[in-house]
Amino acid sequence: MERPFPTVAVVGLGTMGAGVAVAAAKSGRRVIGIEATADSAARALARIEEATAHAVARARITAEERAALLALISVGHALEAAAAADLVIEEVPEQLELKRELFAALDRICPAETVLATGTTALSVTRIAAATTRPERVLGLHFFNPVHTMKLVEVVRTVLTAPQVAEDAAAFSRDLGKEPVAAGDRAGFVVNGLLFAYLNQAAAMYESRYATQEDIDAAMRLGCGLPMGPLALLDLIGVDTARTVLEAMYEQSRDRLHAPAPILGQLVAAGLLGRKTGRGFYTYEAPGSSRTVDAATAGTAARVPGREVRDVGVCGSGTMATGIAEVFAKAGYPVLLAARGQEKADRAKARLAGSLERSVSRGRLTADQRDAALALVTPVDRYTELAGVDLVVEAVAEDLAVKRELFATLDKIVKPGAVLATTTSSLPVISCATATSRPQDVIGMHFFNPAPAMRLVEVVSTVLTAPDVTTTVLELCAAVRKHPVECGDRAGFIVNALLFPYLNDAVRMLQEHYATVDDIDTAMKLGCGYPMGPFELLDVVGLDVSLTIEQVLHQEFREPGLAAAPLLEHLVAAGCLGRKTGRGFRDHARR
Ligand SMILES: NC(=O)c1ccc[n+]([C@@H]2O[C@H](COP(=O)([O-])OP(=O)(O)OC[C@H]3O[C@@H](n4cnc5c(N)ncnc54)[C@H](O)[C@@H]3O)[C@@H](O)[C@H]2O)c1
Repeated sequence: MERPFPTVAVVGLGTMGAGVAVAAAKSGRRVIGIEATADSAARALARIEEATAHAVARARITAEERAALLALISVGHALEAAAAADLVIEEVPEQLELKRELFAALDRICPAETVLATGTTALSVTRIAAATTRPERVLGLHFFNPVHTMKLVEVVRTVLTAPQVAEDAAAFSRDLGKEPVAAGDRAGFVVNGLLFAYLNQAAAMYESRYATQEDIDAAMRLGCGLPMGPLALLDLIGVDTARTVLEAMYEQSRDRLHAPAPILGQLVAAGLLGRKTGRGFYTYEAPGSSRTVDAATAGTAARVPGREVRDVGVCGSGTMATGIAEVFAKAGYPVLLAARGQEKADRAKARLAGSLERSVSRGRLTADQRDAALALVTPVDRYTELAGVDLVVEAVAEDLAVKRELFATLDKIVKPGAVLATTTSSLPVISCATATSRPQDVIGMHFFNPAPAMRLVEVVSTVLTAPDVTTTVLELCAAVRKHPVECGDRAGFIVNALLFPYLNDAVRMLQEHYATVDDIDTAMKLGCGYPMGPFELLDVVGLDVSLTIEQVLHQEFREPGLAAAPLLEHLVAAGCLGRKTGRGFRDHARR
C-alpha cells in the first residue's frame, strides 16, 4: 500500500505540534508547520531546532538524520500553505471556538480530499467536524506528551468519519512508529476517560483527609506498580488542565465520579496548578521543578511511643499467612505459625522453606540467612500457643464470621497489651475488633500478595484503635522493610478503593462497545505506563474476587457509578473467572 499522507501540515507548533511535526518528518514526510504569527513561527522553528539538537546530544538521532529531518520541515504563518498537504493536524490551544474557526478556514483552503485531524484532548471532535463541509474526512489524532517517547495515538472517529479515513490515519500513526488504538468521540477517549476518573477519586480521598498525599501516592505506586502516584501525576499534568478535562467528561457523562473534586477548583483558584507553578498537591523547589520540598516533613507529627514487639504469631496456613511469616522471620522475629492442625502448619512451613530456597537460588538470600529465618519459624497446631506473643497477625479465610470467631478466641488466649492485627482486604476491621474485649488493641495490616515481594502495607486504624498500637505497627513495618501507609477503616482502604472503580470503568467501556479489550489494555499500558492493562489485571486477580470488592465498595459508598458493570457479573455467573478458570476477558487457552 502507498504510504498514507506524504505531505502533512501541522497547525500550532507548541508542546504537541512541534513534537508531531518532528515525528512526521522523521518518517520521511514533508511537513508544513503553521503558527499564528511570524514571531511565533520563528520561535517554533527555534524550538524544533533545539529539540532535535537535544535528540542528537542524547544519541537518539544522528546529526545527519537531524539535518535531513529539518530539511523536510518548513515553518510559516500563512494558513493557506495547508492547501498543499494531504493531512492537516491541528494542535492549537484547547478552545472549542478557536478550533472550530480554524477548521472552517481549513475547509475553505484545502482541497476536498484533504483529511483534517484535531489534536484535542477533551473537546468534541464531532462539534469541530461540524464546522466543516467534510465531516467524513475529519477525525481526532490524540498524541501523548512527550510525542517522541510516547508510543500511543488514539484515532478518534465520530459517527460521520469515513472508515477508510480512520484506517489511513491508523496506518499513518504506525508509520510514525506509534501504536494506534481506535476510539469513539467521547470526552477523554480511552486513556483519559479511565485515568481522570481515578485521579479525581484520589483527589477526593485526599480532600476528605482519608490519607495524606504521600501515602495515597505510595500506595498506588507500591500496591499497583504504577509509575507515579495519582496526586503527583495531577501536579505534573496541571491541576487546571485536569479540572477542564473532568468538566468536559462530566458534561457528557453526568457521572458524579467525573464531577471535579472541589479541591481541584480550590487549587486552581489559588493559582496552585502543580509543578508548573511550583505548588499543587505538593510544594516544589521552584516552578517547573520535579523535586518536592515537603516530602521530608511528612509524617513527623508527634506520635505516642509504640509498644515493644519481640515475637510474632501468625494465624492461617494459606498464601498470605505463609508470606507474612516469611517477612517477619527474615527480619529476625521469632514466629509462631498457627494453623488448624499440625499437618497444615507443617505444610505451611514447608512452603515457606520453598520460598526461601527460591530466594537463595535467585541470589537474593544467602544459605545462612535462609537457615536463620527458617529456624525462627515454629509451626503450631493450636492458638493457645500464641498466649505469650507481642503481636498476632491474622490471615485466615476472608469471611467475617470466621474472623470474628478467631478474634474472640485470641481475646481469651493472648496476653494483655499484645497487638492483634487482621490482614483483611474487604471486611471492616472494627467488626474484628468488637469481637474482642480489647478493641483498642486491634488494627488492620493489609499486606499485598506476594507478601515477601510487595513492599506496601496499608495500616488501618479503626475509631477505637489506640494511638500507640498504630505507632507500634508503623514502626514494625519499617523494621521488616515494608512501606506502611496509614488510612481509616473504610471499604477498599486506599488501593482497592482507587483501583477497582477504574477496572469497573474499563469493563463498562467494553460493555458499551466503546473500545475493545486489546485497545483498552494497549492504551493504558502505552498511555500511562501501567505494567498491565485493566483486563489483563482483572484476569489475574480473578473476576469473582474483583466483583466482590466492587460490591463491597458500592455497598459502602452507595455511589451509582460504583455499581459493578453487568458484564462482569455475567462473566462471573458464566464461570469465566480469569486465568484460574482458563477464561475471563480473554481466553487463556491452556496449552
Ligand atoms: N500538552 C499535552 O500534554 C497534550 C497532550 C495531548 C493532547 N494535547 C492537546 O493538543 C493540543 C495542543 O496543545 P499544546 O499543549 O501543544 O498547546 P501549546 O499551548 O503548547 O501550543 C499551542 C500552539 O498553537 C499556536 N497557535 C495558537 N493559535 C493558533 C492559530 N490560530 N494558528 C496557528 N497556531 C496557533 C500557539 O502559538 C502555540 O504555539 C490541545 O488541543 C491539547 O489539548 C495536549
